[in-house]
Amino acid sequence: MILLKKANDLRNYIDSQRKNGKPIGFIPTMGALHQGHISLIEAAKSRNQLTVCSIFVNPTQFNDPSDFEKYPVTTDTDIAQLLAAGNDVLFLPELDEIYPAGIKPIRIYELGELETILEGKYRPGHFQGVCQVVHRLLDIVQPDLLFLGQKDYQQCMVISRLIELTGYADRITIQVCPTLREKDGLAMSSRNRRLSVKDRHTATTIFRTLSFIQQHLRPGDLTALHNKAVAALSAAGFRVDYVSISDARTLHPCTDWDGQQQLVALVAAFLDEVRLIDNLPLTNAIAASR
Ligand code: PAF
Repeated sequence: MILLKKANDLRNYIDSQRKNGKPIGFIPTMGALHQGHISLIEAAKSRNQLTVCSIFVNPTQFNDPSDFEKYPVTTDTDIAQLLAAGNDVLFLPELDEIYPAGIKPIRIYELGELETILEGKYRPGHFQGVCQVVHRLLDIVQPDLLFLGQKDYQQCMVISRLIELTGYADRITIQVCPTLREKDGLAMSSRNRRLSVKDRHTATTIFRTLSFIQQHLRPGDLTALHNKAVAALSAAGFRVDYVSISDARTLHPCTDWDGQQQLVALVAAFLDEVRLIDNLPLTNAIAASR
């Protein structure tokens, strides 16, 4: 594996590989890697890509400064995992390599309703920060395939929109890969390692609640089902930001289901100060696949 810290060095290396006919598969991350990230590397390798993984904890997407400060940094074990997975290139930039002119945004991305609902509502500015860093990374890497995890369902949709907004739609294909779960159903996440033993146990309620919604979904008014899900999480000790049964392609909440509309259930909730998100497609659509 080649480790590069400078954007120019990465660009030059990728150009040389592209000339050799290698398609470029890009996996952007903020480190604290787990098997979910590694599954993205594996998906890229299985499609014969030169795998480029970036690790950069992007300050501009944290609406809560203490969340940024507490974000786990585990570079040595990340590198070991990437080596074991056979990753080809690791991009490990410093802040000024990503933001040479400073972190102040130079562009507002028109994300429409995606910016005001669910994560957009509870994490104001978050998706602008995600767009800012992913745009910069795409400019540097210029991948053919971009690998994203379905766990960040709304982020996949935002990045899909970013690709349209920035004119990359003809050149970059997004590959959304399934959420990886622990044996007890908890979605793998870098934040899980911040949970206490007790909260780690309680956290499994999220997947049980999503499964409950899936099992009890029937055409008609969804209010009672939604309320039961919120109540189950609250009773387990969560501080719930939202539970939403949403249109799988727009994320607009659905309150009355016609039995046809493609749906996804999404949850964001705190245990102590750790915010967890998860989702479960209730029908068979994965909205962000392009
Ligand atoms: O999902 C993440 O880890 C981050 O939001 C991303 C896409 C790497 C941008 O910083």
